[in-house]
Amino acid sequence: MAEGKKRLLTGLQSSGTLHIGNYFGALKPFVDLYGDYESFLMVADYHALTSLKDPKLVQECIYNSVKDYLAAGVDPEKAVIFKQSDISEHTELAWIFDCLVTVPFLELGHAYKDKVAKGLEANAGLFTYPMLMAADILLYDTVIVPVGEDQRQHIEYAREAAAKFNSAYGQTFIEPKEHIVKAVGTIPGTDGKKMSKSYGNTVPLFGTRDEIAKAVMSIVTDSSGDRPENVYAMHKLLKTDEELAPLYEANKGSYKALKEALIEDLDTLLTPMREKRNSITDDDVKAVLKTGAAKAKAVASAKMEDVRKKVGVTL
Ligand code: ADP
Ligand code: TRP
Repeated sequence: MAEGKKRLLTGLQSSGTLHIGNYFGALKPFVDLYGDYESFLMVADYHALTSLKDPKLVQECIYNSVKDYLAAGVDPEKAVIFKQSDISEHTELAWIFDCLVTVPFLELGHAYKDKVAKGLEANAGLFTYPMLMAADILLYDTVIVPVGEDQRQHIEYAREAAAKFNSAYGQTFIEPKEHIVKAVGTIPGTDGKKMSKSYGNTVPLFGTRDEIAKAVMSIVTDSSGDRPENVYAMHKLLKTDEELAPLYEANKGSYKALKEALIEDLDTLLTPMREKRNSITDDDVKAVLKTGAAKAKAVASAKMEDVRKKVGVTL
């Protein structure tokens, strides 16, 4: 990694199977950008504990996350791939931020508000989630954070945490910027709502061709217009409007043919990624995370040393 490059960091919560919304919203923007920065890619396994309680599943999801990153084209020689729980400075700094922000400020969090609005019980981890995420980002003097549209508020929280700390203790943290690919926006799922693992409306990124076909065939289409917008929204992730125009023109109203074309195009993209993923072993994952942890730790521990001094706990 070249000295002097600006830092880029992103993370994905390791709590389920990746879908194409995660790929186009977060992972691909990372892959497209990370070579220009000193880049960090984090498995957010402690964030995953806000929803996962089964230790075997937690472990499985960590392995799967790293395999997904590697299969999606992240080169572990060019990015620091690490897991959050290996670097205790993240939870340590999150605590310090928790002590700087107020309850009403955290009550504005979308993820927390959504749970409460649905009448579900939110754990305290979900409530303070944005401060752990702020710590993830700020520990590395990150300038740019590639994420999907739905994470915009979390990056604002990180900027606020930085500003609050800086005004209380002096300039310490850089206020990061989100990198959200406008053209991607929020990718709809098979039911037309935001594609999300919690809604069961996903097209799996590493599913078999049959699984992908089943998901695409189940896309809800609106029979009022010529163009099935929910199919088109996914298709335009793969091809340009110009490339798609003749296909959609020739198959006006023929939703089945358009879905079949989408399956074909998805398969062309995903087959090589799926094959690569199958060749990655659990031992490969362990080796990548071990190297990543050492590099991340060096940066995070130096930063925390400064933070501890600034808040007054170092004697
Ligand atoms: P999910 O909603 O399935 O739980 P996560 O919240 O774990 O997904 O999101 C992981 C990353 O993928 C985030 O950066 C998020 O913005 C992005 N992402 C998730 N769903 C979508 C979507 N439907 N469209 C675009 N980006 C998405
Ligand atoms: N909250 C993010 C998500 O659900 C995951 C995440 C955790 C993250 N820490 C991060 C993303 C730091 C970017 C930077 O996808």
